Amino acid sequence: MTARTYAIRTFGCQMNEHDSERIAGLLEADGLVPAVDTDAADVVVLNTCCIRENADNKLYGTLGRLKTAKEERPGLEIIVSGCLAQNDREELQRRAGHVDVILGTHNVHRAVELLHQSRETGPVLEIWDEALEEAESFPSALAVRREIDYSAWVSIQIGCDNTCTYCIVPSVRGRELSRPFGELVAEVRRLAADGVHEITLLGQNVNSYGRDLTLARRELVDDTDADIEIAGTEWTGDGSRRIRPLFADLLTAVSSVEGIERVRFTSPHPKDLRPETIAAMATNDAVCNHLHLPLQSGSDAILTAMHRGYTAERYLEKLAAARAGIFDLAVSTDIIVGFPGESDEDFERTLEVAAEAEFDLAFTFIFSPRDGTVAATHTDRFIDPEIVGARYKRLHTVTERSALAKHRARIGRVEEVVVEGVSRRNEQMLSSRTRQNKLLHFASASPLRPGTRASVLVTDAGAHYLSGELVEVLAAPRHRTRIPVSAG
Ligand code: SAH
Ligand code: SF4
Ligand code: F3S
Repeated sequence: MTARTYAIRTFGCQMNEHDSERIAGLLEADGLVPAVDTDAADVVVLNTCCIRENADNKLYGTLGRLKTAKEERPGLEIIVSGCLAQNDREELQRRAGHVDVILGTHNVHRAVELLHQSRETGPVLEIWDEALEEAESFPSALAVRREIDYSAWVSIQIGCDNTCTYCIVPSVRGRELSRPFGELVAEVRRLAADGVHEITLLGQNVNSYGRDLTLARRELVDDTDADIEIAGTEWTGDGSRRIRPLFADLLTAVSSVEGIERVRFTSPHPKDLRPETIAAMATNDAVCNHLHLPLQSGSDAILTAMHRGYTAERYLEKLAAARAGIFDLAVSTDIIVGFPGESDEDFERTLEVAAEAEFDLAFTFIFSPRDGTVAATHTDRFIDPEIVGARYKRLHTVTERSALAKHRARIGRVEEVVVEGVSRRNEQMLSSRTRQNKLLHFASASPLRPGTRASVLVTDAGAHYLSGELVEVLAAPRHRTRIPVSAG
């Protein structure tokens, strides 16, 4: 019998990408195989995002096309998961009666059970209001099917306890929960044993990692087993009974795992970026010299209205400390334009700070009111879309200028890269990542497998990429190549 096939389309951030890997793992454990032709897949999963408005519009467009497909192929099963499902459950159900399963952010591990249930009962909607505190809540804790063999995401924290007034994430991802330190280190060891040499630690506010664990520890009576459970033997085995799983400690511990050569993380919140974290980045060779530090605005009035907890000056100080401490650091950021009440003067501050910060890369967004957030209620302070559009363009010019300058400054250097695969734009070229997380395209006479490490001379640069020539191959990937499963 031919195996049934699945295809997953992921919207949104790495958290969602990681959840998608987990859904893929569950579907494969249930006997499905990835569809070669995604349009012909038997099970289609849409893992959704609701961070900004266009994210929902894209989803409803895709659902419309799937409705026609399902009329032609009634066996097609559709699952909608993720943040938009968590947020818009009723609207989604109303607008998409053809969806078989709707599940949210806290019950991803139930995807296959719910699919089986829908075959018996018809469409199923199951959204949980909160995450379980047990391991199942953490996407990495269960089998995942990783798209890339040499690199893995590790979610160290779910949810967010901050109250940025524009942001929907706390309401769709729940309160902040950190995964116990010992479990994380053990997982990274398992990944390394499997041939993974690059990990990315994921959380909405990675710098506050461990805060909830330390609080939980304080409530416990003296109990060594519980200490080890929370902080891991690294931090309890020295007899000092020092319990403080902090992000800096975690960076040091995972960087020390044999076989792990690159450690990345996203996102650190500027208000919680501590000197220990900068020191851990500087001293652990495996931690990559790239920091994503979301600015959001350069105006103190807007930063206060956003509830960000820092001023522009404080942000620039932290940035200077990071650049002073970490050799050859690349910095990327997120900036929102047109937050309610943003005056011309506020926006000028953003331009100034962005120019001074000289970002390597900036993700710029137009403010999008999200129902349920504080900022969305300030309709009297919404900014005329034409003004916002013009500001957006000006900001883009400033951030592109620094990006180009930063990329051009790499010309003539030899960069250590990890090969990602054949370039999407030019089949003759390979795409790779530098330690600074820059994309570097280069030609190679022989095909190099994804995960290969090489050194490449940078010969040219654009605002978003570098290009160069292969100097030498440093190491072949250690992971086993996945043998494609034929659907026959
Ligand atoms: N936890 C991460 C951000 C996750 S959302 C952090 O704090 O760094 C990613 C980015 O989307 C944010 O940094 C912000 O710039 C943008 N964003 C979030 N909500 C938005 C909204 N309502 N309108 C426009 N941009 C938004
Ligand atoms: Fe949203 Fe702020 Fe939390 Fe980031 S830190 S997820 S922007 S509430
Ligand atoms: Fe989107 Fe949810 Fe991430 S709203 S940005 S997928 S946490």
